[in-house]
Amino acid sequence: MSNLCVIGTGHVGLITACCFAELGHQVIAVDRDKGKLDRLRKSEAPFFEPGLQELLSRNITAGRLSFSGEIADGIRQAGIVFVCVGTPPLSDGRANLAYVEEVARSIAACMDDYRLIVEKSTVPVQTSQWIRRTVTLFNRTRVEFDVASNPEFLREGSAIEDFMRPDRVVIGAESERARRLLFDLYESFNCPVLLTDLVSAEMIKHASNAFLAMKISFINMVGNLCEKAGADVDRVAEGIGLDRRIGRAFLNAGIGYGGSCFPKDVKAFLNMAESLEVDFGLLREVDRLNEHRVDHLIRKAHAALWVLNDKTIGLLGLAFKPNTDDVREAPSLRVIERLRAEGSRLRLYDPQAEGNMRAIHAPVAGALDYCSSPEEAADGAEALMILTEADEFRKLDWDRIRRSMRTPIVIDGRNVLDPAKMAASGFEYYSIGRPSVGNRY
Ligand code: UDX
Repeated sequence: MSNLCVIGTGHVGLITACCFAELGHQVIAVDRDKGKLDRLRKSEAPFFEPGLQELLSRNITAGRLSFSGEIADGIRQAGIVFVCVGTPPLSDGRANLAYVEEVARSIAACMDDYRLIVEKSTVPVQTSQWIRRTVTLFNRTRVEFDVASNPEFLREGSAIEDFMRPDRVVIGAESERARRLLFDLYESFNCPVLLTDLVSAEMIKHASNAFLAMKISFINMVGNLCEKAGADVDRVAEGIGLDRRIGRAFLNAGIGYGGSCFPKDVKAFLNMAESLEVDFGLLREVDRLNEHRVDHLIRKAHAALWVLNDKTIGLLGLAFKPNTDDVREAPSLRVIERLRAEGSRLRLYDPQAEGNMRAIHAPVAGALDYCSSPEEAADGAEALMILTEADEFRKLDWDRIRRSMRTPIVIDGRNVLDPAKMAASGFEYYSIGRPSVGNRY
């Protein structure tokens, strides 16, 4: 078992720290946010992620996981240091690498023996070279070290499962010593381990996210075409996806991708291509198409409700996807802005993300209310809009919901419901890339 340090306790960092501790390693996680550290030390998970709370409590109690505000504490105790700090977007789409640089300098200042510095945050290619240069410049005592890239592919909502049972582990390293250390760490994982150079590992992470985003924008446009031609995008996705060269995953048409990764990473990848003088216009289109998804949904609202002013609309699902409390770049943010600008009264429901959404949109009685159940959001509404692909929405008693609504209109931005069943329940039902049903007037 190894002694590990994880710098940054955001989604990637905290999951990495908890999962390595769960696997038996001794882990010290470092963050400079004192409030967050206080909560973590009390075993309070700072964000919602299925299974995280249990993992956190169990490993703190077992003495395998501890927290510190000082990078020096972590470096003193650990041979392998994972850099998991944020790389938020700058106004021009580039990734802000100020935190990564600062961490590199701090590590260099307190290394007293060989350390392996592993970059895990999603960073532009060549960042590892900059980390190496920075550590070399600030490493006055000339202690030996290596830099490696070990990108993380975890999804919010299934992050622990993704960490523990990944499709693959990618290790970008330049020395045999670094490769061996990381290889040993992942030895028990039952998946292919790909050994590459540093830049290729960094490229794999960005290219994976960009490719998945491209799949989503592609199927969304096929959906638009299906709507005009009278086809069903779900059947089309199934038909395309059965081709093993394509695959069914990430071909769900809807109101677009959100979250802390895809929107940011596509822009950063594009920016990187531009700075390397490669014309990757395909990615510009992926991003542009995604930006227009909410317009598409609002057009449906107009088609169904005509005037939106004074209409009561229930919004189901506020996070950027189900099973998370994360509202960063969530399509719901734009939907709320657009509908409020048109004077609609909104009734919002999300079992995990309500708190984070309240911090952005405080309730305004009668104009923007938070509801504790989908039924409450539907009560007296002229329409319901589904904004995340939550299973919960499939299981609702839709007959009961219809009776409580003022007009039985559902606009499903994620195709979670079955059009035939919705029509049979008496709804006028609009979805993405599929024919609308139940319109009798
Ligand atoms: C993503 C990558 O999947 C993960 O590998 C990487 O490490 C981080 O970024 P995440 O942002 O957690 O993970 O969510 P993901 O499940 O990939 O979904 C992203 C967005 O795409 C969501 O808004 C989701 O609703 C949307 N989506 C996904 C679609 O619109 N259609 C699909 O078919 C799949």
